[in-house]
Amino acid sequence: MAIDRRHILAFGKIDTPFYFYDMDLFRRTVSGLASLSSRNGIKVHYAVKANTEERLLRHISSYGFGADCVSGNEVEYAVSCGFRPENTVFAGVGKSDREILSSLKLGIGTFNCESLQEIEVVDSLAASLGLTANVSVRINPDIDAHTHKYVTTGLYENKFGISRHEFEPLVELLGRCGSIRLHGLHFHIGSQITDVAEVYGLECRRASEIVRWFEDKGLVIANIDLGGGLGVDYDDPDGNPVADFSTWFRTISSELPLRPGQTVHVEPGRSVVAQCGTLVSRVLFVKSGETKTFLILDAGMNDLIRPALYGAYHKIENLSAMLSSESPADADASGSQIYDVVGPVCESSDVWGAGRLLPRSSRGDIIAIRSAGAYGQVMASRYNLRDLAPAVYSDDLAAAGGDL
Ligand code: LLP
Repeated sequence: MAIDRRHILAFGKIDTPFYFYDMDLFRRTVSGLASLSSRNGIKVHYAVKANTEERLLRHISSYGFGADCVSGNEVEYAVSCGFRPENTVFAGVGKSDREILSSLKLGIGTFNCESLQEIEVVDSLAASLGLTANVSVRINPDIDAHTHKYVTTGLYENKFGISRHEFEPLVELLGRCGSIRLHGLHFHIGSQITDVAEVYGLECRRASEIVRWFEDKGLVIANIDLGGGLGVDYDDPDGNPVADFSTWFRTISSELPLRPGQTVHVEPGRSVVAQCGTLVSRVLFVKSGETKTFLILDAGMNDLIRPALYGAYHKIENLSAMLSSESPADADASGSQIYDVVGPVCESSDVWGAGRLLPRSSRGDIIAIRSAGAYGQVMASRYNLRDLAPAVYSDDLAAAGGDL
C-alpha cells in the first residue's frame, strides 16, 4: 500500500509537518529481512540510530533481532523496547565510563571496541564489577564504500576502527586482558551503499584475510560483523520500496567463507526504515523571485536535516495535485513549473530541492518528502524553537477509517 487518495484526504485534516509511517510497507520490509536472513544463516542487529520510534522498535524486536546501539541511552532504550540485553551490541568510537558501566550492569551481548585504549578501559571497568565483557574489535579495513564522504567510515582517514599497524599490539593486549572475552571482529565501511555486489564483495574478501591473520595468531574469531550500510532508492521509492536484501545476503554468503562455528552478523538501519517514512508538509507561500519561483513549506531543515547536511536528494511530491487530477493526462493539463522548494528556517541551506519540476502548486497544498524514515525524526532539532514533527502511523489512519 503506497500513499493513496484516502491517506491524502486524512492528511488534509492533520497539522503539518508530521512524519507519516506506512506500517504495511514497514512490516513487509521487516518480514522480508527476517526470512532472507534466516535462510542465509545471517544474524541481524537493527541499527537503532536510524529510527527510534517505539512502535517500530517493538515490532523489530518481536522478530528476535538484536539491536546495534551507539550510546548508553540507546542501549537502555532498546532493551526497554523488547530487545534482549544479550542480543544488544554497543558500538561507537567514544563510549564514556558511565555508559560502559551501565551497559555492563545490563549484561549486554557485545561491546564493539574501536581503539586499544577503549579495550583497556572496558577490561578494567568489567574487572571492577567482577564481570567479563564480550568484546568485538572494530577493524578499519581501508575500503572505499563509493558513497558520500560524510557517511564513509572504513577508510584510514576516518576515525573508526583499528588499523593494520595496531594489529600486533592488539593481539598482545587481548592476551593480557583478564576481564574480556573476544567475541569477534567488526567491520563497517559506510552507509547508503548501492554498489552492493562490488563493495560488499570487496569487504567480505578483506574481512576474510583479516580474520585469517588473527586466527593464525591463535585467536578464535567466532563472530564476523559486517556492519550495515545497504542503500535504498531515494530516486524511486515506489519502484523499489524494499531494499535489495537478497543481493546483499547472496554476496555475503558467496564471498565470505565461514569455518564451522563461525557466524556472520549485519546491522542494517536505513534499509529497514527509510522507505516507510514520509515527511508531510504544506505549502505556506509561493513566491516569485527575480530568477526563480520559491515554494515555501512549513517543514524545515530542523525536521529533516539530510538535504542541508549532505546535499541529500529526497523525492518531493505534491499530494494535493495527485488528488485533484483524476488521470495523468489531467495532471499534465494542470501544468507544471520549476520551483526551488525551501523551508522556513533562517538558513540559506534550508532547501528541500532546487529546480524541481512539480505540478503548479498553491498555498495549502500538501507536499510529501519521501524516503524520510531513516535519519529523519531522530536527527530533528528544535532550532529556531520550532516544534518537533510528530509521528502519524498508517494503522491509526486505517483504524479511523481513513477519515480522522
Ligand atoms: N553500524 C554502524 C557501526 C554504523 O555506524 C551505522 C551507521 C550502521 C550500523 C547503520 O548503517 P545503515 O544501515 O543505516 O547504513 N545520518 C546519515 C547516516 C549515518 C550512518 C552512520 N552509521 C544519513 O542520513 O545518511
